[in-house]
Amino acid sequence: MKYRVLLLGSGGREHALAWKLAQSNRLEKLFIAPGNPGTAIVGENVAVAATDFEALKRLTLEQKINLIVVGPEEPLVNGIADFFAADETTNQIPVIGPCRRGAQLEGSKDFAKNFMQRYGIPTARYRTVTAGTIAAGEQFLDELQAPYVLKADGLAAGKGVLIIHSRDEAKQQLRNMLQGMFGAASSKVVIEEFLQGIELSAFILTDGKNYKLLPEAKDYKRVGNNDTGLNTGGMGAVSPVTFATPEFLQKVERQIIQPTIAGLQQEGIIYKGFLFLGLMNVNGAPYVIEYNVRMGDPETEVVLPRLQSDLLDLFDGVAQQSLDTKTCAIAPATAVAVVCASGGYPGTYGKGYPVTGLQDVKESVVFHAGTARQQDTLVTAGGRVLAVTSLADTLPAAREKSYAAVAAIHFQDIYFRQDIGLDCLNGGNDATIL
Ligand code: AMP
Ligand code: GLY
Repeated sequence: MKYRVLLLGSGGREHALAWKLAQSNRLEKLFIAPGNPGTAIVGENVAVAATDFEALKRLTLEQKINLIVVGPEEPLVNGIADFFAADETTNQIPVIGPCRRGAQLEGSKDFAKNFMQRYGIPTARYRTVTAGTIAAGEQFLDELQAPYVLKADGLAAGKGVLIIHSRDEAKQQLRNMLQGMFGAASSKVVIEEFLQGIELSAFILTDGKNYKLLPEAKDYKRVGNNDTGLNTGGMGAVSPVTFATPEFLQKVERQIIQPTIAGLQQEGIIYKGFLFLGLMNVNGAPYVIEYNVRMGDPETEVVLPRLQSDLLDLFDGVAQQSLDTKTCAIAPATAVAVVCASGGYPGTYGKGYPVTGLQDVKESVVFHAGTARQQDTLVTAGGRVLAVTSLADTLPAAREKSYAAVAAIHFQDIYFRQDIGLDCLNGGNDATIL
């Protein structure tokens, strides 16, 4: 069967998904809503928001779409899979992405922590606090050692986690959060024990019964070199991760992935899509820091270039619940993605600056994230503008290619981290621990 695919989203992740889907001989036509100038190279952009379900339904019926792929979390948390399943004109169209209840693994930290506790999945000790239980929250903080981890329960655009060194300040911030610091998202706060270790991310694609382990990746979240400065959406990524040994990944599968899928099944949650595990390697033992119900960005920009199998064929396996019959081959090569950002990000930054030099990049792939077209000119339109990915046999060679490509790209106030992947060169021992 050939597919007419509708992909939702507009970032670097979606450009990477679109780029990979466009390589499939099972693809008849690819639409992206709303997409960006990068996705327009490999498919047709349609100016519909990824959260406008009624408009997406009309588009799906008009264009005879027979597969929907959801990039970002918001439509999933808002129940897009349930929306399409509940309508008799669309209920035969598979959605790659979990139902609303499944999306609670990302949409509610309290739900996710409860779920992990129910199924014995290793994660930091925690307590959930509301305005009525502040005293219990303070008591829990008294039991913990610094630093203290406070998390808004709901979605807070990646900003809802505070890591605080003084206990008094943690107590104050707990009150601030409960009083609306992150709006409704922090009307419940999860207090967690701080885990000391090295972070990495694992990804699976699941049909609810079977799963495929995708390449693991490491994200560089801080804006500055050597993991300094403010948190961002991610300034670069590498895959594979040198400290993710086969033994460690086997523990991740046995102790985390398999019980997660069994738990979802036990609760009758339909989960067909990607699951992103934010992990901490604590002396060789994996712990879940967070679940995300989508792929990561910029992690997707290093994961998909290493995937040798046909992504659309894997999605077909998810839709038909026959993922066990598909192959998921991974290139042994190393991928490095360097994000070119607008100077000032994640604070304020200028927009509308012309982007030049992309035609000189021959040995890397440039994924668009925050770009726009103004007449015939490509211009900056966001904090993270481009992700430049290279594949090579070794990490130093992949780094060299990506940084050579970045040097060819120009726009006013361009900023990028210079140390993406450096910490992995000696096995991850340099990874800065917060
Ligand atoms: P999250 O949004 O849950 O990924 O949290 C943001 C960042 O805070 C993570 O990437 C970690 O670096 C850090 N973090 C979150 N929870 C913990 C924890 N329990 N222990 C140590 N660091 C944490
Ligand atoms: N790069 C982190 C995320 O996508 O959540």
